[in-house]
Amino acid sequence: MALRGTAGDKDFSFVGRAPSLASDPLVRLPDQRTRPTPASSNGACSRQLTRLTYARNLTWLRLLGTITTMQGMSAQRKQQCLGVGLNSSAPPFRLASLLFLASAIANIAAAQTSTARRTVWDGVYTEAQAARGMMAFGQSCAGCHALAAEGRAPLVGEAFWKSFQQKTVGDLLEFVSKYMPNGNPGTLSAGAYQDIVAVMLKSNAFPAGTTELGPNNTDVQIIPKDGSTQLPADALVRVVGCLARSGSEWVVTNATTPERAERVAPAAGDATRALGTRTMALKFVVTRLDNLAGSRVAVSGLLIGAGGVDGINVTAVNRVTEKCP
Ligand code: HEC
Repeated sequence: MALRGTAGDKDFSFVGRAPSLASDPLVRLPDQRTRPTPASSNGACSRQLTRLTYARNLTWLRLLGTITTMQGMSAQRKQQCLGVGLNSSAPPFRLASLLFLASAIANIAAAQTSTARRTVWDGVYTEAQAARGMMAFGQSCAGCHALAAEGRAPLVGEAFWKSFQQKTVGDLLEFVSKYMPNGNPGTLSAGAYQDIVAVMLKSNAFPAGTTELGPNNTDVQIIPKDGSTQLPADALVRVVGCLARSGSEWVVTNATTPERAERVAPAAGDATRALGTRTMALKFVVTRLDNLAGSRVAVSGLLIGAGGVDGINVTAVNRVTEKCP
């Protein structure tokens, strides 16, 4: 999937698949990540973003990854790349590009609204399947990934939770089937990918069961054992609530629990859904929100701190209804 956006003098283009990286990408990536790019050139911003997209796989959609990587930048750098300063009166045409992206994301995001879904704690693969997966993993993945919490590009523990918490086993299967092995994506059989996902689940200490993981039983939520719905820092999320001022800051009151943005269909139900009790700070807001004050809004952005304890690094704010709640 390739996406291109044009706004003002600026082109954004995003390629929605993992690139073929030259040999030993995991060793080279970290210094690419920090290599300075000239601040004066806007082209450098998009190149930097694109490169970071490859380097940091914070989300399974490369497109989302592009926005996600802005989290790693300073506020000033982010504004430079957006072309909008906090005090700038320049037309926010680059923000428009981001909004274009946000709506593109919305369009490709799948709606997932069911409630009592199975979870990874329900035994969604078998021991025999994980044993087969171990072999396949050894052949196709172990060269680049540690099936442990430590080591090269680990797929267990914190790294796993960071990328996949609140997603589904189907998302994980789709990710590895589409993008891995990096450089030769999609080259294994469907069964081999399912087996490999089974061993990834086993390695992350989810229990085995009596039914193999197959193409039709992957709607399984990846959540911690205690059922916590808190998302990790940097997750791209969406909340609905009431926009208000708090001192010099914008906040959303009565906020719903943050949900992974790529898992939620926007709009449908936003106007009528039950709101929450939480107040979330909106950070790095680069547009004027005054005319939305008091409205019910949908905010998307990146969680700052686990669960968004320090707020949301905002990418878009959209009015849902005039009045709130
Ligand atoms: C040639 C090296 C290479 C091989 C082989 C490879 N990968 Fe990857 N994999 C990568 C790179 C590079 C990334 C992106 C890492 C990043 O951006 O953090 C990645 C990312 C991933 C991720 C996402 C990790 C995260 O935390 O978001 C998963 C899951 C994954 N690979 C699974 C697999 C599986 C399963 C296989 C075998 C079928 C495989 N990989 C084979 C290089 C490889």
